[in-house]
Amino acid sequence: METPDEYFSSYENFEVHGLMLSDNPRMTAYKNAILDKKDLFHNKIVMDVGSGTGILSIFCAQAGAAKVYSVEASKLSELIEQVVDENNYKEVIKIIPSKLEDIKLEINEKVDIIVSEWMGFYLVHEGMLDTILTARDRFLKSDGLIFPCIAKLYAVPCQVPSLFEFWENIYGVKMTCIGKAMREQKSSKPEIILVDPKDIIAEEKILAWIDLKTATSDDLNTIGGQDLVFPSTKNGKFEGVCIWWDVEFHDDLILSTAPSEPPTHWKQTLITLPNNCQVEQGEPIAFRVTLNRNNDRRKYNLELVVLNPDETDHDLPCSCYFTKCIVAREYLKHHSQEIDTNNGFE
Ligand SMILES: C[S@@+](CC[C@H](N)C(=O)[O-])C[C@H]1O[C@@H](n2cnc3c(N)ncnc32)[C@H](O)[C@@H]1O
Ligand SMILES: [Zn+2]
Repeated sequence: METPDEYFSSYENFEVHGLMLSDNPRMTAYKNAILDKKDLFHNKIVMDVGSGTGILSIFCAQAGAAKVYSVEASKLSELIEQVVDENNYKEVIKIIPSKLEDIKLEINEKVDIIVSEWMGFYLVHEGMLDTILTARDRFLKSDGLIFPCIAKLYAVPCQVPSLFEFWENIYGVKMTCIGKAMREQKSSKPEIILVDPKDIIAEEKILAWIDLKTATSDDLNTIGGQDLVFPSTKNGKFEGVCIWWDVEFHDDLILSTAPSEPPTHWKQTLITLPNNCQVEQGEPIAFRVTLNRNNDRRKYNLELVVLNPDETDHDLPCSCYFTKCIVAREYLKHHSQEIDTNNGFE
């Protein structure tokens, strides 16, 4: 198990920060979220939780914040001082070299805005969201804002050709058995990879919707766990489940890690199935994904259970080819036309 000190010292590696700072979708989303909303930041007191190199604190100062508490637990806090100096924001940014949870007298006022980049693989890996919730409960004014404020986690069935098709023909030699052994190995541990959008075989569904204004730490112990049915949108193979997330800052400003969006350093999380299953367009695929926090509170066990679509509740309406879903769709279509017609005579 990783100790708290190991977690923070992992952030003392400059390459980790270099990677985050060169992640264009991440940087653009935060920069625009803050600098496009200067009216919200003007003269406000802001807290940057886990400020790393200090980049978000600087954006907040540029947006006109009166004061920015820049909280960083790793030794990087010593360098943020110099970054702040280099950018002439010494009067605005106050560095708090501490774990957020250990702050005592250093901050004795409530803040208007909390800014943080806390997201990990499959959103909650690293468990840093708990720290933001603690910051909210201890330091945010009741009408304060959190950037970002909404986080959503998604799942969708997908194909994984590199783990299935690849092993079918290695320079004319069949090695499907090795492919199978490899998938069995892989299915016990999710993988962080970029999934090709053309390998997504259905519409995604939401596993979790987290409102940072109201969520509690307990809400994060078990995430997902619903039985979900996905009508296939094309003929293909069900070989894995692709998981990703997005976060919402305000209005429609979203940072998305979807396969269809430009890649980020978070990529997507893939749970591979040991076997493939051929599906045709309209066929329903059913499964349940549950993320259970393990003893090391920064990590989760991801559990995938493939379900029988005959025995799982489908959405209403559902676009799959089961007779009951076709009938329900027709009924709803007819019924909504009737309502439209009635409205027409009112
Ligand atoms: C994902 S990095 C983001 C860094 C920076 N905000 C950025 O956007 O480039 C998260 C940072 O939060 C810090 N951190 C994590 N948990 C913390 C806590 N409980 N208290 C203070 N800092 C924390 C880590 O040391 C790390 O530098
Ligand atoms: Zn259906």
